Amino acid sequence: MDNLHPPVEHVFRQTLGHYPTGVAVVTAMSPEGKPIGMTVGSFTSVSLDPPLIAFLPSKTARTWAALRDSGEAFGVNILAADQEVICRRIASPGADKFTGVEWHSSPAGMPVLDGCVAYLDCRTVEVRDAGDHDLVLGEVVQMGVQRPTESLLFFRGGYGSFRPRSLAAGAPQLFDQLRYVDVARPIIERLASDTGREITALVLHDGELVTAAAANDSSQLARIRVGRQTPFLPPVGAVFAAYGTDRVRDYWLSQLPPDAGPEKQRAERMLETIRERGFGFTVGHEIGRAIESMGDRRGRDASTAAVRAFRQTIRRASQHYNIEFLSPQRAYEFHAATAPVFHPRHGLAFTLTLWGPNGEIPFDTMMAAIDQLVHASRLCSDALSYVDSEC
Ligand SMILES: Cc1cc2nc3c(=O)[nH]c(=O)nc-3n(C[C@H](O)[C@H](O)[C@H](O)COP(=O)(O)O)c2cc1C
Repeated sequence: MDNLHPPVEHVFRQTLGHYPTGVAVVTAMSPEGKPIGMTVGSFTSVSLDPPLIAFLPSKTARTWAALRDSGEAFGVNILAADQEVICRRIASPGADKFTGVEWHSSPAGMPVLDGCVAYLDCRTVEVRDAGDHDLVLGEVVQMGVQRPTESLLFFRGGYGSFRPRSLAAGAPQLFDQLRYVDVARPIIERLASDTGREITALVLHDGELVTAAAANDSSQLARIRVGRQTPFLPPVGAVFAAYGTDRVRDYWLSQLPPDAGPEKQRAERMLETIRERGFGFTVGHEIGRAIESMGDRRGRDASTAAVRAFRQTIRRASQHYNIEFLSPQRAYEFHAATAPVFHPRHGLAFTLTLWGPNGEIPFDTMMAAIDQLVHASRLCSDALSYVDSEC
């Protein structure tokens, strides 16, 4: 094959590979009572009334022959983004496709893969000839979402998941956010100089918290923080979730796995605490620094394992964030405090963070620094009232 005149199948695959698909596993029970499964990217909805779906198995696929022999009923499992291993296993030819795959029975007795996003019990209504494939039309008998999380996507030969381009429709986009930070820069610098502490401004963009500006009177270190990205995942970024739109808050909470019940309740309570106080804060330098240095390394190591480890570290930090009961008699390892800055029409524009000193400091000293932060964030909000006021 020369690259100038590749065979038509190659061009077909390459062209169609640019169209992303979801990934589903079509299942049934064999007459011997064994689960059968086939990974398909060709699953699609067809008709609402009556509810029809379709998929296109290759005429030569052994699993399709087995599915056909098993009867008129089949199930469709829509795979979740974290089920790539299952997708590959069930796509590989061989008898042991279900080894290590957990499943249970649907109301119609078909295998439902544990952890899949949604499941549909179907009845075959027609099988049509479609070139080297068949087109199987099925009527949906029962269906339901069992785990509302991101689905697995297949695109140009690789797997991934969906990430919304913009988290909060109606919220200012990155360009506007950076402009707002710039308008507030003199106030940020004055706060750094008055407190002698490092101050950073964070924006929320594309599901990530991005450090947009940093000021510190005495250290060059602050500038290194600019551009740092941290996933918007409880408990990190709680001030954005507390003061952002419902959509932002729901997105933040949805980053916890569905089985994280108590963790979710803690995260929701954390948002109330922040709104009551008017700021968020963290104690404990060790965990705080671990998160920051993982954030810095992330640009260099974006492997799945590194991302997973980062997310686990963040979730473990929960008890250090926004502790509910503070004692005026105690000293605290004050790591950072964060306050919201608002645009009068666009709502939450960015947040300001004041970084605490090494070691422990008395409660009163900590609260005095936080008061200065909150005051400065209000001045920033006032400064933003004059931006875009003509429209
Ligand atoms: C992401 C993905 C999508 C697939 N989509 C289809 C499909 O729509 N139709 C099909 O016949 N095979 C599809 N396959 C291939 C089959 O899953 C699988 O390789 C085949 O059934 C295994 O062979 P066997 O059934 O002969 O054991 C897909 C595989 C993958 C990994």
